[in-house]
Amino acid sequence: MNIAVAGTGYVGLVTGVCLAEHGHGVTCVDVDQQKVKTMRKGISPIFEPGLDELMQKNMERLTFTTDYQAAYRGADVIFIGVGTPEKRDGSANLAYVYEVAGQIAASIEKDCVVVVKSTVPIGTNDKIEAYMKARLAHPVQVWIASNPEFLAQGTAVQDTLHASRIVIGVEEEKPGAILQEVYKDFDAPKLVTNRRSAEMIKYASNDFLALKISYVNEIANLCETVGADIEDVTKGMGFDGRIGKQFLRAGIGYGGSCFPKDTKALSWLASFNDNEIKTIKAAIEVNENQKYRLVKKARKYYEDFKGLTVAVLGLTFKPGTDDLREAPSLVNIPVFLEDGAFVKAWDPVGVQNFKKKCEGDIRYCESIEETLQDADICFIFTEWPEVKELDAHIFEKCMKHPIILDGRNCYDLEQMEQANVIYESIGRKV
Ligand code: UGA
Repeated sequence: MNIAVAGTGYVGLVTGVCLAEHGHGVTCVDVDQQKVKTMRKGISPIFEPGLDELMQKNMERLTFTTDYQAAYRGADVIFIGVGTPEKRDGSANLAYVYEVAGQIAASIEKDCVVVVKSTVPIGTNDKIEAYMKARLAHPVQVWIASNPEFLAQGTAVQDTLHASRIVIGVEEEKPGAILQEVYKDFDAPKLVTNRRSAEMIKYASNDFLALKISYVNEIANLCETVGADIEDVTKGMGFDGRIGKQFLRAGIGYGGSCFPKDTKALSWLASFNDNEIKTIKAAIEVNENQKYRLVKKARKYYEDFKGLTVAVLGLTFKPGTDDLREAPSLVNIPVFLEDGAFVKAWDPVGVQNFKKKCEGDIRYCESIEETLQDADICFIFTEWPEVKELDAHIFEKCMKHPIILDGRNCYDLEQMEQANVIYESIGRKV
């Protein structure tokens, strides 16, 4: 089968490479010439563990191009994996999806299935179908299928090769059968639904996970007040299979390119249809507040950050990625800077991206020790393994005032008690 993939971000590139791993010939299309050049050398333009290796292994089945016409012309299946960022009003911006849909309609010369992997509001696949059919340059049949993506950054390759499920949303048998064939060697449960249900599965899943995190964060905040320990509480909850052990980690809130955007988009869609999803609205609000949880705690020790040296460990929204979208560091560091602090920051891969988004009196350090040296307070925003592995005494040894505010519950409380430090985390005793 001749497969093309539009967009080489996390979704598009990982999909293309994993399809090649299962023996398909795949042409990946991107508008960025520079990115295409890099990918032709077998190098991924995004930081994603295992992706470079898998690309190099499958280079003979992979083609990278900016020439979308050549890529789409003879394709049997075309995946759309471009971004659907958030608009100011919280709705999803579908401009890139429609741009690609228009290009496909103008290019295809044989019957083909267009597979929408991008996260799009419920009903969008129907609209794309009408949009494309009105623009077809040749008298061919085009079927639109919804096939949402469930990969997480940092584990994207494994999440795709060993997917929790493959959802195929179609209105007719033929495109369903073609997609079953595409995915026949993928070892994952396959669920065939109509397109609107497939679109909804994606939002409902992401928003449920976001809700779970906000719920746990609220319970964690209450634990602090009533003297319970969130780590023990979530452990106890997780034994119940109906609740599950995963996604119960309390912290300074979720970030990334998906949960913040997808919660707002579903909430927007509900109100647009004269509905209201109160639980999701609450999850959004809780998350916004949670991001400032550590700053509030810091006010106990310092009225403001003026003249202080603030050490920051971790900039990205989670470990295993260089992505900073909606990362807690992006809202907290400006608070330190506005107050007149000198910020020292460490992150193994996120520094270059952070520099593009935030300016000010920041020194980016090569090592954690250098970051902590002479600091008056330390904030932990990302649970990188290098941070979790630290010996508690290093804070005591390097910092001027060893006050550690940990937004990711990286350390054992007993271990921290033995060191001569002030340690506060989320949902646990001070
Ligand atoms: C998320 C979903 O997990 C994927 O299933 C989905 O396919 C993807 O969005 C998407 O729609 O593309 P991702 O945003 O890459 O993936 O990252 P997650 O690992 O889900 O983490 C999101 C945020 O939640 C991070 O900031 C993380 O620190 C936070 N989180 C996660 C918690 O605060 N507590 C937890 O227990 C789990």
